[in-house]
Formats: sequence, C-alpha cells, structure tokens
Amino acid sequence: MSRSVYVNGDYLPEGEAKISIFDRGFLMADGVYEVTTVIDGKLIDFDGHFTRLQRSLDELGIENPMDRDAWLEVHRQLVDQNALDQGMIYLQVTRGAPGDRDFVFPDPETTKPTVVLFTQSNPALVDSPKAKKGIKVITIDDIRWGRRDIKTVQLLYPSMGKMMAIKQGADDAWMVQEGCVTEGTSNNAYIIKDGRIVTRALSNDILHGITRAAVLRFAQEAQMPVEERSFTVQEAMQADEAFVTSASTFVMPVVEIDGARLGTGAPGPLALRLREIYIEESRKAAI
Ligand code: PDD
Repeated sequence: MSRSVYVNGDYLPEGEAKISIFDRGFLMADGVYEVTTVIDGKLIDFDGHFTRLQRSLDELGIENPMDRDAWLEVHRQLVDQNALDQGMIYLQVTRGAPGDRDFVFPDPETTKPTVVLFTQSNPALVDSPKAKKGIKVITIDDIRWGRRDIKTVQLLYPSMGKMMAIKQGADDAWMVQEGCVTEGTSNNAYIIKDGRIVTRALSNDILHGITRAAVLRFAQEAQMPVEERSFTVQEAMQADEAFVTSASTFVMPVVEIDGARLGTGAPGPLALRLREIYIEESRKAAI
C-alpha cells in the first residue's frame, strides 16, 4: 500500500512527493529532523520532540514553519491516513531550496523551509525480539562535528558506524571521545554498576535524548540511583548491565561490548525493568 506523506502543506501518495534538487537538505545537509514513536495510534512524548525541534531550528537560524498545534495536526493526520498503530513518524525541516547552490544562506524572506513528514510502520516495537536477546555493540572513534546537540540530518558517520558494527557481527556502535563513550550511533548509552545507572551528562557532545530525559525521570521515581557523568570503555566492559535509549528502541539492553560479555550475557534485570516502566508510562501519557 502506498503511504500518504506530507510535503510543504500537502498530503500526497509517496510516489508523487517531490523535493527540489537545490534543496539545502540535499546539497548541504542543512536541515534538522525528529523521530516520534506511535503506539496504539498515539504519539509518545510529542511535546518533548516539538521542543527539541524548536531548539535545533533556533540553533541553525531556521524559522519554524508551524506552531505546536499545527505540527500535532500533521502528525495525527498521517497516523489516521496511514492507519498507523505502531511505528514512527519522521519529520524533517531544511533551510529550503533557493534555486541554486551557494554556501551563503538564502534570504529567509524568499526561501522558505522545506517540510517533509512520513510514517514508518513497525509492529514489533513494543514486543521486540531484539530486546529479549539484547544487542552487541562495538566501539569506534567519535569523529563527528562539535554540535551533536543539534539534531541535524548529517548522519553519514553514524550510518558508517552502524555498518562497521554489522561487519563485525555486532548490532551497533558506541562512539568514543578521549577514552569515554559519548553515545550510540542513534541512541544514548548507559551502563549499570552495583545498581547505579551511569550516563554521560548533557553537553554539545551528545544529542539530548527525549527518551533519555523520560528514562532518567522514571529511574529516579523508582529509587534507582543515577549518575550523569562520562564513563570509559574499560568501565563499560566491566559493568553489570548496559543499555541504550531512543524513541525507536525505547530501552534496549546491551549484552556485549567489543566482544566482552556483560554479566551472564543476557539482558540485565534493571534494564528490562526500565524498559517495562518506560513503555507503560509512555503509553499512559501518549496523545
Ligand atoms: N535517533 N543520540 C543520537 C545520536 C540519536 O540519533 C538519537 C535518536 C538519540 C536518542 O534520542 P531520542 O531519545 O530523542 O530518540 C541519541 C533517532 C531515533 C534516529 O535517528 O532515528
């Protein structure tokens, strides 16, 4: 079945949706994105994603083409038109298509941002076979730019990192800067030692995950101690448990780091508990 997608104000069959070859998202990766999860046809943490979108746009000086309620309406329309029960809504805003290639930003009066949204169905999000087994990660150098807090569409290195992991028989890569883990290719990274959850503090070095914020809040409510600080690869390999979080994977247990098995090699009890709490609470609060 052809999807209904959104492009600059129109809902179109995916095959009819078109973007200019001069779009700065295409030529310069001059754009930002968000991924919002849908469970039971409802949006998880919509306001968190909207707030981060606004921040990313502000940091790049791109005008937000819609207010919160208009964004919400487009998300809901796409859920309805595609009868989406479980999956994701991807949204992208670029600086637009000035009609030529130029390093200089175009005049925002004449070049309006390009807005694209589409759905991705994934019926196995909640009942994920991967979450039952856990994932294996490798570590790679973090050679990305210095503003990883902005959710830009510059995803080539994370994509290459994922391929390096797959080539080595793993599932994902954790990126490392000065000996410490920054984050996963498309998720935030955590270890657990003696019951304490450790994850890197927020800065320009990592994306400020919406799932991270929710999970840390739920952990504290469940009396699980949290330390927001950097951790080394060595420390991670000796941890009792590890996991990653993102909108599309929720809380995903990690069972192996660079070939070193964590604990018994099965998903850890605290990671699984956090996954349960996250899914339950997010479902309740979905809109
Ligand atoms: N990725 N860190 C990076 C580098 C990410 O790309 C993501 C999200 C996260 C987690 O953020 P959140 O909890 O807000 O999803 C952390 C999305 C899911 C993606 O690129 O598909």
